[in-house]
Amino acid sequence: MKAILIEKPGDESVLKLGDAPDPVPDPADLLIKVKYAALNRADLMQRQGFYPPPPGASPILGLECAGEVAAVGSAVSGWRVGDRVMALLPGGGYAERVAVDHGSAMHVPAALSDAEAAALPEVFLTAFLNLFMLAGVKAGDTVLIHGGGSGVGTASIQLLGLADVRSIVTAGSDAKCEQCLRFGADVAINYNSGPFAPKVRAATNDRGADIILDSIGGAYLAQNLEALANGGRLVLIGLMRGAKAELDLATVLRRHLRILGSTLRTRPAAEKAEIVSAFLDRFGDALEAGQLRPPIYKTIPLTEAAVGHRMMQASEHFGKIVLQVA
Ligand SMILES: NC(=O)c1ccc[n+]([C@@H]2O[C@H](COP(=O)([O-])OP(=O)(O)OC[C@H]3O[C@@H](n4cnc5c(N)ncnc54)[C@H](OP(=O)(O)O)[C@@H]3O)[C@@H](O)[C@H]2O)c1
Repeated sequence: MKAILIEKPGDESVLKLGDAPDPVPDPADLLIKVKYAALNRADLMQRQGFYPPPPGASPILGLECAGEVAAVGSAVSGWRVGDRVMALLPGGGYAERVAVDHGSAMHVPAALSDAEAAALPEVFLTAFLNLFMLAGVKAGDTVLIHGGGSGVGTASIQLLGLADVRSIVTAGSDAKCEQCLRFGADVAINYNSGPFAPKVRAATNDRGADIILDSIGGAYLAQNLEALANGGRLVLIGLMRGAKAELDLATVLRRHLRILGSTLRTRPAAEKAEIVSAFLDRFGDALEAGQLRPPIYKTIPLTEAAVGHRMMQASEHFGKIVLQVA
C-alpha cells in the first residue's frame, strides 16, 4: 500500500510517499480503507524523532482517520464490511489501509463528512478524557483552555458549550481570539498582549478557573496556578513550552489545587475502548445530531503531507488540517 514514510527524523522534507507492507489485522481489529487522516501536533514531534510510537504500534504517522471498513476480525461484532468508520489510532493513519482495535472505532454519523469524521477522534477523545473523565467538569464550571484555536481547543469549546460550562481560551493573535469567540468560546485572551492570569481572574470576578486544560507546560506553570480557583485542577496534556518549572508547593497546599497529567496514545486498547464508550454515552446524541463538528482549516492530498506539517508548525491554522488519502 501507499503511505507517507519518514526516511530519517528531520524537517518536513523527510516525509515521502512510498510503499509500506499492508497491515495484518488481529481477530479484535477492523481493517480500514482510509479516505482521510487528520494531522495532530504530535505528528510533528514524531517526525522529528521525539515521540516514538508505543510498542507494537505502526511506525507510520497518523493518530486518527476515517474511511470504510474493509475487513472485520473474527472476534468483532457490530461492524460490517463497507460501514463508514472513524477511529483513534496509535499510528498508521497516513496510509491507504490501517488496522485498529474495534474498541477504538466509532460509526460515522450521517451528519458528518468523511473529512470531518477523520478530524474528530483524537482531539474530541482527548478533550473528553481530560475534562470530563479526569477533571470531572460539571455544568456551571469555568474552564481555561490554552490554544483555543487548536484541534483539541476547538473540540473542548464544543464539548464544554454543550455541557453548559463557561470556556475561557488563550490564542496567539487578536484574529484567532475572534475566531474562537465566533466558534463559541465565552472569553478569548491574546497571550501575546500581556500575562493571561490577571485577565482570567478579571473574567471570573477574581475567583479563577475551576479547570485549566494546558498544552504549554513549564513556561505557564506559575500563571496557571495564579489563574486557578481554590480547589481547581490543572490538567497537563502537552509541553509546547517546556517540561520543567519551579512549583510553589505552598500554593498547591493552601489553595487545595490538583495537578493531573495524561496521554491518550500510550493507553492499552481496553482503556481506549472505555473512553470511546463513555464519550458515546455522554455525547453520542450530539454526535448523531451533527453538534460535534471539527472545523476543517484545509484539506490537502496525502502526497503533500509536508505542506500540512509546515502549516501546523507555523500555527496558521484554526481547527484541523486533513489529508485526503483515497
Ligand atoms: N496528552 C494527550 O493525550 C494529547 C492528545 C492530543 C493532543 N495533545 C496536545 O495538545 C496540544 C494541542 O494539540 P493539537 O494537535 O490540537 O495542536 P494544534 O492544532 O497544532 O494547535 C496547537 C496550538 O497551540 C498554539 N501554540 C503553538 N506553540 C505555542 C507556544 N509556544 N506557546 C503558546 N501557544 C502555542 C498555537 O496556537 P496560537 O496561534 O494561538 O499560538 C497552535 O495552533 C499539543 O500540545 C498536543 O501535544 C495531547
